[in-house]
Amino acid sequence: MINPPPICQISWEFDKLLDIFKVRQPKNILEIGMDKGGSLYQWALNAPSGATIVGVDQYVSYSDEATKNDYGQDKIIVAIGGDSRATETIVQVERYAPFNWIFIDGSHRLDDVIQDWHNYGGMVARRGIVAFHDIAIHTRPGMESDVPILWDRIKRAGYRTEEFIAVPYQGWGGIGVIRF
Ligand SMILES: C[S@@+](CC[C@H](N)C(=O)[O-])C[C@H]1O[C@@H](n2cnc3c(N)ncnc32)[C@H](O)[C@@H]1O
Repeated sequence: MINPPPICQISWEFDKLLDIFKVRQPKNILEIGMDKGGSLYQWALNAPSGATIVGVDQYVSYSDEATKNDYGQDKIIVAIGGDSRATETIVQVERYAPFNWIFIDGSHRLDDVIQDWHNYGGMVARRGIVAFHDIAIHTRPGMESDVPILWDRIKRAGYRTEEFIAVPYQGWGGIGVIRF
């Protein structure tokens, strides 16, 4: 394995999510907020042969050149640079929809994450998964997240949800999963 890109996740939580991913073997994957590509790389590594992995970020700093031998040449990575809220970005992503797996980890401001949920949540395939990062109550300075507000609304709306929070009151992180 050649240096995986850095990932911004709590290992226990992400491993729990990956367990679901490995069972599901999604063929069409979307990530909003890929940053340096740490989580995207894990999707690529664990996805079935022929899978397409679409990543969106306002700043694309990820290149699969260094790592593609790890996850196989038969997987397609599409890195889309743009604001996830912009119509042009939504239109580009739509070309690859529907997705069996959607991971939302972009802007953590309430208005923005609501927009991501509305714009991309609707692109989920039948029996697909939508997961959110940073659903735990955030108390760490500099790591503010309004995702818990949206997550609470989603739960109250009656979706089939599950959540992974490594340590209660840890102050950041937390992963919420919705099964469709
Ligand atoms: C916490 S990082 C993602 C971490 C990554 N998923 C991982 O686990 O390694 C959040 C990313 O969302 C991106 N982002 C924030 N607001 C965005 C927006 N409106 N449109 C697109 N990307 C956005 C940031 O540039 C940043 O790279």
